[in-house]
Amino acid sequence: MAAPVVAAIFDAYGTLLDIDAAMARHAARLGPEWRALSREWRAKQTEYSWVRTLAGPAQHRDFARITDDALAYVAARHGIADPGLLADLREAYRRLEAYSDARPVLAALRAGGTACAILSNGTPEMLREATVAAAIDTLLDDILSIESVGVFKPDPRVYRLATERFATVPARLMFVSSNPWDAFGALQFGFRVAWINRYGLPDEYGLRGNVTELADLAALPAHLAQ
Ligand code: LAC
Repeated sequence: MAAPVVAAIFDAYGTLLDIDAAMARHAARLGPEWRALSREWRAKQTEYSWVRTLAGPAQHRDFARITDDALAYVAARHGIADPGLLADLREAYRRLEAYSDARPVLAALRAGGTACAILSNGTPEMLREATVAAAIDTLLDDILSIESVGVFKPDPRVYRLATERFATVPARLMFVSSNPWDAFGALQFGFRVAWINRYGLPDEYGLRGNVTELADLAALPAHLAQ
């Protein structure tokens, strides 16, 4: 039998925190395309994180800044010029809702003796504010930010923050992410991985068969108890 998991390490944005919630809150002002705009915002934010990591340390910008950069691009491309709306979207992103399964799962894992932490691209300040707003802050043993290494996921230096924090080997940690590219990076690092495939998307990076694929977070405690 595999050695028990010491801690579950969660991605934040899109895994615990609903990244569509910011634009959903202002959907009436954005129009029927709001969901596509939200996806484009996310895609640009993620692209900027990879490009800035590959371009080297002098090009690092924190996640708050690249989130703003990505929103500015999407706004320019779609002719969204209302500064009040843009300010409201930025504010909403700082206070996203948690997915409805996030709180119960964190509580159940901790009740079963599994520590829970976030390991995220977000800045410490963003993550503190977001977890308080989503009411999950009291269910976390720690919040780890890539800002302490200055590179974004999936750089292995980021995943190492979790093994250092819990003073254990990667195989004793369960990494939980809805982002296939993040799940892939975590798998290469040696973590056990749960890929939360909420939208039933096709396999990427050869994840299927090599990670635990779940439709939502709810099945995670039972899986870890096996
Ligand atoms: C994070 C992004 C990648 O929370 O979702 O790290």
